[in-house]
Amino acid sequence: MSTTAIDYNGLIPNNVELGADPRVKRALESWHPGYINWWNDMGPEGFQKSLVYLRTAVSVDAKGWAKFDYIRMPEYRWGVLLAPPVEDRKIPFGTHRGEPAWQEVPGEYRAMLRRLIVIQGDTEPASVEQQRHLGKTAPSLYDLRNLFQVNVEEGRHLWAMVYLLQKYFGTDGREEAEALLQRRSGDPDTPRMLGAFNEKTPDWLSFFMFTFFTDRDGKMQLESLAQSGFDPLSRTCRFMLTEEAHHMFVGETGVTRVIQRTCEAMKEAGIGDPYDKEAVRKLGVIDLPTIQKKANLHFSLTLDLFGSEISTNAANAFHAGLKGRFREDKLHDDHQLESSTYPVLRLIDGKIKNEDAPALSALNMRLRDDYVGDCNNGMNRWNKVTEKYGIPFQMKLPHVAFRRHIGEFSNIKADVAGIVLSDAAWQKRKDEFLPSDDDRAFIESLMRPQATPGKFAPWIAPPKVGIDNKPGEFEYVKII
Ligand SMILES: [Fe+2]
Ligand SMILES: [Fe+2]
Repeated sequence: MSTTAIDYNGLIPNNVELGADPRVKRALESWHPGYINWWNDMGPEGFQKSLVYLRTAVSVDAKGWAKFDYIRMPEYRWGVLLAPPVEDRKIPFGTHRGEPAWQEVPGEYRAMLRRLIVIQGDTEPASVEQQRHLGKTAPSLYDLRNLFQVNVEEGRHLWAMVYLLQKYFGTDGREEAEALLQRRSGDPDTPRMLGAFNEKTPDWLSFFMFTFFTDRDGKMQLESLAQSGFDPLSRTCRFMLTEEAHHMFVGETGVTRVIQRTCEAMKEAGIGDPYDKEAVRKLGVIDLPTIQKKANLHFSLTLDLFGSEISTNAANAFHAGLKGRFREDKLHDDHQLESSTYPVLRLIDGKIKNEDAPALSALNMRLRDDYVGDCNNGMNRWNKVTEKYGIPFQMKLPHVAFRRHIGEFSNIKADVAGIVLSDAAWQKRKDEFLPSDDDRAFIESLMRPQATPGKFAPWIAPPKVGIDNKPGEFEYVKII
């Protein structure tokens, strides 16, 4: 079997020759029923019998890996798919740089590697749990299908991490794989591991912001892990990245369509002032300042996922060759960073200042900087829409010190421009920066399902093109 072809014959589709590995095959087969139970309990609420026009990977090479068809979500063929191996691959960074990439877990780094895999793995089912109620209020069948596509692929990402745990980490890997099915997003006793994955995704604007901002964190983490000297992790993450691109597409185009609909409605009604909230809301669309507040919320939540700006864990993982930088292979330096520095934003005597820190300790900061750049590119595309309609409003990322719970700025309050505020000033002004109860109630009032093929809820524009080039009235979900 070639390494790009996928074997769909057994219970678990794979391109890792599971048939020749009875121990791992058995372990995954015995994990399977627990996974299906989790999906039924915590996956999308309702719609499990509906036929959804989903893509499934048929090969893992760069082009044409997706096959579209109607399937019921519980029958989605979740499996273990790795990108093809790179011949003679070497460890690309850290103290082992230039040595052959590891095909087995390096004993001295076992615990560190397992932790990286578990943390990544935990985010995958968490987002499915966060999004489970959204089907009921989908603004169109097109959007409903996109939600479910994201959900089944996050499920597959869990499979990807569980495969690594089962194959390479013995008994404790099996225990971790079980635990991934036990934790629950937002549960006070058994929460998911990272803060942003315990927040609610209460409405579709949040869903689009989440897939724009938080799935983009996923992309950054996967890009760094795709550089790993542990080759099975690298190959796993490389294939996950091809799926991840669609999740960010859903977020970016989703917000674009919301902004577009607002601009259209304002134009039609002759409203030129984007801050005339009441007049805009009367049109049944979301005013631009409220969209900005949602972006502020999701951006700040997601920044916390990068951890502390100065981090020994990040330094150790890089030094060991386990987790690299964003697109490490495209960077031109010594890839060891023992003697270089990196500018880090810090809180010094109550002021936010740049300070050079050892580059190894500053790797979280560096990844976060790369992330912020990537977010800015997407946001610039949103701003093209308001420009096109001649509406004087530009979306802007808040300052990285805004509303943080982890790292340098977790003990201060700062506004969206990074000005430090007293607690009292923050309390007084926070509704300027973040969705207020009133904003939330308004958005909630718009969340009415639209399940007629080709029709869209009035607060969001249709997409430019359909999925798999399907025409506008295509029935992406046959609701049963
Ligand atoms: Fe994922
Ligand atoms: Fe994702």
